[in-house]
Amino acid sequence: MKSFLICLLFVNFWTSYAGIGIDSKKKLDLIQWICLGDANFEMMFAQVYETAGQVDENGILNLLAEDFDGSMQMSAYIAPCVSGKCLNGINDAAGQVNATLQNLKQKVSDFEGYVFIEVATYQNWSSNKAQNQQFIVEMVNSLHFANSFMGIITGQSAWTSIFGASFTNASVFAQDLVWVNWNGVEDLTTGWTPFGGWTQPVAHQYAGNINNNNCTIGKPINYVYFDSESDFGKRMKKTKVDEKRQKVHKFDRN
Ligand SMILES: *[C@@H]1O[C@H](CO)[C@@H](O)[C@H](O)[C@H]1NC(C)=O
Ligand SMILES: *[C@@H]1O[C@H](CO)[C@@H](O)[C@H](O)[C@H]1NC(C)=O
Ligand SMILES: *[C@@H]1O[C@H](CO)[C@@H](O)[C@H](O)[C@H]1NC(C)=O
Ligand SMILES: *[C@@H]1O[C@H](CO)[C@@H](O)[C@H](O)[C@H]1NC(C)=O
Repeated sequence: MKSFLICLLFVNFWTSYAGIGIDSKKKLDLIQWICLGDANFEMMFAQVYETAGQVDENGILNLLAEDFDGSMQMSAYIAPCVSGKCLNGINDAAGQVNATLQNLKQKVSDFEGYVFIEVATYQNWSSNKAQNQQFIVEMVNSLHFANSFMGIITGQSAWTSIFGASFTNASVFAQDLVWVNWNGVEDLTTGWTPFGGWTQPVAHQYAGNINNNNCTIGKPINYVYFDSESDFGKRMKKTKVDEKRQKVHKFDRN
């Protein structure tokens, strides 16, 4: 009981300042999610649609494992398929959003978190910036109208090379930016310069492809910093998850 109280105090102490999230494109098992939760990581980012053009079933399994553990807040992201040769034949942006949300609804019934769109150069965007702009605007618009919490995960150089430096339409609806910049600094400001219409990020992916976390040896993960006391941090805290967290911690932490 004592250790449970200490653990709870520590969690509270931690949450009132900063939160660190984990992003993995690999399937982590339940033990690994529990280990990460015990290590006070607070938020998961699960890729649920992959850029080859299909639902990422590993990401769905990650969400289900974390849903069972209940120690971290869950969010999902879409890596768009922009090749025009998507594995499932769904080449349009709105169709990919629909396929993602349908799958989440069917398979992870508890899911009520953020859905992000990841934008990165490995996704092989066209060299035609106007075409890319159209795609992302359609994706952002359909996600915005279908899911209350949404945002974009990207870095400045990827964003400007894909859409151009003056393109700001996507940030009108996708106001929450998870800023990718692997500078190793756990804050929202060091090295930040505004781009894409965003004046500041809500979270910062500050390290990536890390293989030596004790919970997930050999599986690359990314680390995401956010401020738990910000509007974004508070929005992530779902009552339901908090209740589950207490239940699980009470159950097996002694
Ligand atoms: C949305 O996705 C579901 C299942 O993946 C599919 O049955 C439905 O036709 C899709 N709707 C649209 C408008 O694309
Ligand atoms: C991107 O293009 C490269 C080179 O053509 C190819 O090897 C890779 O599979 C492509 N990736 C995606 C996600 O389409
Ligand atoms: C971006 O917004 C401008 C101004 O509203 C509009 O003229 C343009 O068509 C938009 N671009 C896209 C790709 O939606
Ligand atoms: C991993 O575990 C070792 C041994 O218990 C410890 O020294 C090290 O600090 C841990 N590393 C991390 C990243 O937690």
